Amino acid sequence: MKILIMNGPNLNLLGEREPGIYGSESLDSINADLAKRAAKLGVDTEFYQSNHEGALIDKLHAARGVFDAIVLNAGAYTHYSIAIRDAIAAIKLPVVEVHLSNIHARESFRENSVIAPVCAGQISGFGSYSYTLGLYAAIDKAKK
Ligand code: DQA
Repeated sequence: MKILIMNGPNLNLLGEREPGIYGSESLDSINADLAKRAAKLGVDTEFYQSNHEGALIDKLHAARGVFDAIVLNAGAYTHYSIAIRDAIAAIKLPVVEVHLSNIHARESFRENSVIAPVCAGQISGFGSYSYTLGLYAAIDKAKK
């Protein structure tokens, strides 16, 4: 089984970016932890981050036939990218939406996720642990 963990804009700055909201852990450190947890379960992982909408869409398309499920933090694109929403709907792979912060407890413009209706589910508000939960949810979905 192979799981893709994808991150969108500004998530490369985790650790230094608004640590009061997003925590002090870097993306590399979060990814290393996920790779270790997945390996213990015999699951392969790949990690991808881009600040560009089209690059994220290209990666979603390229995931077809290669990965069994995807964990995606689309960052701010979550709230307005119909193009990413359509890509998720097109690829027919289970995508687990994750957020470090609780998007329902912040500014009103973050409350709506345009990708949520085409994702398998949403995990939001548990800091870096959201990715851990997302990984386990993705593995479970991929098995079914
Ligand atoms: C985020 C929440 C988004 O609203 C924000 O734009 C991000 C990060 C999160 O992980 O909490 O970049 O997806």
